[in-house]
Amino acid sequence: MNNKFNVETFVRYKKENKKISMLTAYDFSTAKIFDEAGVDVLLVGDSLGMVVQGLDSTLEVTINDMIYHCRCVRKGANRAFVVGDMPFLTYQISVEESVRNAGRLIQQGKAQAVKLEGGKNIRDKICAIVDAQIPVMGHIGLTPQSVNVFGGFKVQGKDLVRAEAVLQDAIAVQEAGAFAVVLEGIPEKLSKLISETISIPTIGIGAGRYCDGQVLVMHDLMGMFSGQSPKFSKQYANLGLIMENATQKYIKEVQSSTFPEVKHTFTMDDDIINALKERY
Ligand code: KIV
Repeated sequence: MNNKFNVETFVRYKKENKKISMLTAYDFSTAKIFDEAGVDVLLVGDSLGMVVQGLDSTLEVTINDMIYHCRCVRKGANRAFVVGDMPFLTYQISVEESVRNAGRLIQQGKAQAVKLEGGKNIRDKICAIVDAQIPVMGHIGLTPQSVNVFGGFKVQGKDLVRAEAVLQDAIAVQEAGAFAVVLEGIPEKLSKLISETISIPTIGIGAGRYCDGQVLVMHDLMGMFSGQSPKFSKQYANLGLIMENATQKYIKEVQSSTFPEVKHTFTMDDDIINALKERY
């Protein structure tokens, strides 16, 4: 039986009340580790702008950056389903550009689906991409590409008008043909209502316990990002500290000539080296 995760598995998991695990990945080696550990979905998030490129937001990430990282991740994914983020300005301008850019993520980046931020406002883009036979994951609530409109990374949908707008976005994304939707930075009661109202799975980040799945940025989960981790995320390891300690040990051993040892070296015949010495 084919046990690879695909768009149909998303629907089945929701029906069977099975939670979906999604994690960001940006390169081959970590994608392979996550895949072998059994994660269902690998998201090549435009968060790479912040955690890989060191930028303040996701706004400068380009389609070529995304294609490059999607290719790396897809190489490491065997069972996991690979979703690639459409970066800022690759789907806001026109329907034609959205389809072309989504197609590039699939054709050149080898992603299996694309993710777009927005609800009612991008319904036509989602419809057109789905019509082009490209699976779409929606992303609503605190959508980081709208950080300047929100005036910062703030929880969305807390009052009646905005809560209803987020709910309508979820319905719009489903009606446009998305197979799943990320709910980011919204109150738990609202994400519960959305998850009960729509039939496609909801994947939460900072959206509480009742979503159909969860996603985290790998650097938050692994403790690889300096600074305070967000309230909604959970750090499962301290790889940052492990890497720093290993680096300090390596530097000391290089400085004290205790690395490399004989076992790390390659040998050759004395005759050859002696012959060479006679020439020089
Ligand atoms: O870019 C990203 O990593 C994301 C997740 C936070 C959902 O969109």
